[in-house]
Parts: sequence; C-alpha cells; structure tokens
Amino acid sequence: MADKQFDVLVIGGGPGGYVAAIRAAQLGFKTACAESNPYADPKGEPRLGGTCLNVGCIPSKALLHTSHLFEETQHAFAAQGIKVKGDVSIDVPTMIARKAKVVDQLTSGIKGLFKKNKVTFLAGHGSFVGKGEGGWQVKVGEETVEAKQVIVATGSTARHLPGIPVDNTLVCDNIGALELSEVPKRLGLIGSGVIGLEMGSVWRRLGAEVTILEAMDSFLGAADQDVAKEAQKVFVKQGMDVKLGVKVGKVTPAKNKKSVTVEYEDKDGASKAVFDKLIVSVGRVPNTAGLNAEAVGLKIDERGFVVVDDHCKSNLDGVWAVGDVVRGPMLAHKAMEEGVMVAELMAGQAGHCNFDTVPWVIYTSPEIAWVGKTEQQLKADGIEYRTGKIPFLANGRALGTGDTTGFVKMLACAKTDRILGVHIIGANASELIGEAVVTMEFGGASEDLARICHAHPTLSEVVHEAALAVDKRPLHF
Ligand code: FAD
Ligand code: NAI
Repeated sequence: MADKQFDVLVIGGGPGGYVAAIRAAQLGFKTACAESNPYADPKGEPRLGGTCLNVGCIPSKALLHTSHLFEETQHAFAAQGIKVKGDVSIDVPTMIARKAKVVDQLTSGIKGLFKKNKVTFLAGHGSFVGKGEGGWQVKVGEETVEAKQVIVATGSTARHLPGIPVDNTLVCDNIGALELSEVPKRLGLIGSGVIGLEMGSVWRRLGAEVTILEAMDSFLGAADQDVAKEAQKVFVKQGMDVKLGVKVGKVTPAKNKKSVTVEYEDKDGASKAVFDKLIVSVGRVPNTAGLNAEAVGLKIDERGFVVVDDHCKSNLDGVWAVGDVVRGPMLAHKAMEEGVMVAELMAGQAGHCNFDTVPWVIYTSPEIAWVGKTEQQLKADGIEYRTGKIPFLANGRALGTGDTTGFVKMLACAKTDRILGVHIIGANASELIGEAVVTMEFGGASEDLARICHAHPTLSEVVHEAALAVDKRPLHF
C-alpha cells in the first residue's frame, strides 16, 4: 500500500522535471515532484532547479557577466573616454556571493511556483519499486508513492576521467569551477567544449593564465567550421592557450595540494604543465544508476541513458523520461521543451518538440549561437544551399558599441530558399539567434527574413543583411 497517491510523479526537479510538473498540474493532474540534490535551502530541504539553476547555466552566466564587466572596465572603457582612478581589482568572494544570491532567488522561486500551481514537493531520492494497483510505485526517501504516470527527469553529472580524482578544491568539475575563492595564477582545463570555454573565459578575464587541453584535433567540432575558426582565432588572441590533439596522461597533485602537474602528449611530443587549479570538463553522464530501473524493466542503453522515442515515451506504459537523462543535446531549454511535451501528451494533447530548431549558445565573448545545420553537415548530406554572410563590422550599432567582432552566416536551401541553418559569432548572438529559430520553426525562407522590417540601429540588422546576402543583394555590405 502506497503512502501517497498521485496522477503524475516527476523524479528530479531540474528544468526538465520542474517544468513538466508545473505543466502537468496546470493540465489538472494531481502532481508531485521528488528532488534529492545535496544543495540544501535555508530550510534544509533540497533545492529545486537541478544542475541548471544550482551548478550550471545560471551561476556560470552570473560569473560570465561579472568577469565581462571587469574586462570591459580594464580594456574597453579608456577607448570611450572613461577614466577609472587607480587599479581595477576583483573581489572574488563578493562575486561568488552575488552569484549565490541569484541562485537562491531562482531556486526558491521554483518552490513558490510549485505552491502556486499546486505541485507537491517531495524531498528525497526516487527509485522504482514495482507496479501496484494504483500505478507505478516509487520509493521517495522513506515513503512509497504511487502514480499513474512517472516522468524520469534525473539529469546528468560531470564525467570524470580515470586516474584524475576530482575533489572540487584543487581538481574541479563544474561544481568547484563555480566556487573558486581566488583567481588561480595558472588554470588548466581538460576539454575545450562548452564548459571549458565558458569557465576558461571567466577566470582568464579575471587574470588567470588559461591552458585548455583538448583531445580532438579540431576546435569546436559541433559548430559551423567558419564560426569555429573565427572563435579559435579570437580566443587565442584573448590569451587562451588552446592545445588540440592532446592525450592527457598522469595527473599528480602536489603534496601541499596547492598545485597539480598534468603530463600530456600532443603533436610536439610529451610535455608537463603545472596548474594552481585544474577543471575537468569532458562531458556529462546521465543519472540513472540510482533509479532501480531493473525493478520495473525500464530500458537503459549502454551509455546509461533512458531509452525513449521522439515523444519521450520509455518502453513502459506510463513511464516517460526527459532532459539530460535521454538522447539529444544536454541543454536546459531542450529539457523544458520535452517536459511540456510529455505533460501535454499525457493530457491527450498534441505535444510536440522540434529537435531541428533547438538553438545552441556558448556565452563567451564574442558569444556563439546557432540553429539548424552547419555548412559541413549540408555538404555531407549532399544538400545544395546558398550562403549569406555579413560581418558585424558593417553594422552601425556594432560600431557604436565598439565591438565589431564576428559575423552572421545564413544557409538556405538552393531550391526552396527555406532557411536550413543560421550561425552567429558576435555580441548578443544569444539574443539574435531567436529570430532565426522562430523563422525556421515556421518553415520560413531567407526571402521572408529579407522582407521583414528590422529596427535601426540594431545588431539584428546583421541577420537581416545576411538574409539579403543569400540572394546576393545586401544593402550595407
Ligand atoms: P538536471 O538539471 O541535472 O536536474 C536533475 C535533477 O534531478 C537534479 O536536481 C538531481 O538532484 C535530481 N535527481 C537525480 N536523481 C534523482 C533521484 N533518483 N531522485 C530525486 N531526484 C533526483 N544548458 C543550457 O541550455 N544553457 C546553459 O547556459 C547551460 N550552462 C551550463 C553550465 C554548466 C556549468 C553546466 C554543468 C550545464 C549547463 N547547461 C546549460 C546544461 C543544463 O544545466 C542541463 O541541460 C539541464 O540542467 C538539464 O536539465 P534536467 O532537468 O534534465 O537535469
Ligand atoms: P562538451 O561535450 O561540450 O565538451 C567536452 C570536450 O572535452 C570535447 O571537446 C571533448 O572532445 C573533450 N574531451 C573529452 N574527453 C577528453 C579527454 N580525455 N581529454 C581531453 N579532452 C577531452 O562537455 P562539457 O564542456 O563538459 O559540457 C557538458 C554539457 O553541458 C555540454 O555538452 C552542454 O550540453 C552543457 N552545457 C551547455 C552550456 C550552454 O548551453 N551554454 C554551457 C555549459 C555546459
């Protein structure tokens, strides 16, 4: 006999889980959400918000913002006639405390949203027990909960490498990387993916010498290679030492734990580097180990992901899974989109998630954002396309701000003109990409964008010009 009965139980309170729970409750389901993370709120309860709000998207963007202001103050103000008296310095504990406040505000806000939407919050680890008369039985903490439908939204955790123990003090994953108490003189990062570039940027801007050791021979392999080349050029100019084709060997912390030596090999042979902090950012693994999936026969693949179809349905009737714990990009907005889709499908609605229009953003400076296919993918698929590419240098607003780095590149089908991909590197790319996502979601053509009136002077005019350039008729370039 279950202690509590629900229509819907969501396991995991990250962006996939909390959004699914809110939408399910809005649709009239009696809904609960179980969360067990170790970050306690002032009441001692696990915080909601998952990786994203606690140790991911939000805290990293807060630190990126502070470090950007610091760098601008040091290097951009003078050119605009702003004089700063004395040295500019960074108070790391204050920066970290501000970040913590942002996290507190948002995570407690979700508890408020649960109250408002009548979602029951259950503090505790959820694991499957079996199937009872009232639905799936899940143990949450000490109680057994029964629910007609279960949404697994247990997310992911950082992948660690064998022989490189992470203590989150000297050798860090994303958790420690967001909590450093001072700027390390020499910072090493293993992996030049999204976390490597974002966290490398934060600490470089604040004064660290940053070295990134990347296993692949190419830089940002998932991005359009035009963008990747430009990004690599800019990041190296900013002072990041990005070493490609690296095989990391022995990692030895000093006895006093104040530094760590990394042995590695690259095209130049065997080398050693000593760092004051090391961040391991080599991808993430899904959290399925503690689910007791075998008790109910929930299918997990060889990499640990819950196996689902395009509608996030698992192999079990009434069990769904969303977010980082299933296939596809590990992005908060993709997790939320899936959460909403599942709740709506459960209610008999036509839930839908278009994986072709999920945007990617890397919040470095310049920002990098894209949606749809890259040029190399179109070539590999044998799709004929036309390209429009416009630099921010040709834009009045960009010149006015003093930041003209980067470009917008639009790829459209040569036959139908439908937009197949948009790739942006430059200031505010994270916001500019929205227009491309909307146009692509509506099946729009480059001609559609070219004929839409864009406010002047704005950076969005570069997107407009790129659309015009697809038809070789840009007006300002
Ligand atoms: P999670 O957010 O991981 O949440 C899962 C939750 O489930 C956790 O709170 C966990 O404690 C809980 N849980 C796990 N197992 C159980 C259990 N058995 N019982 C109860 N609770 C359980 N994405 C972006 O889109 N934009 C960004 O800018 C961005 N920045 C990032 C920066 C960093 C440093 C990192 C690490 C990630 C970033 N991401 C970003 C990725 C984003 O955080 C994830 O894609 C997103 O959090 C996934 O949401 P989720 O709900 O699937 O899982
Ligand atoms: P990632 O997958 O983006 O990058 C990992 C990098 O590490 C790759 O370049 C890979 O080649 C490299 N690598 C793997 N093994 C290695 C090894 N042994 N030695 C050296 N390099 C190695 O993973 P990352 O940066 O850890 O981020 C995890 C995920 O979190 C991202 O994929 C993304 O989904 C999400 N995220 C999203 C952000 C955003 O949307 N802005 C920001 C940060 C994270």
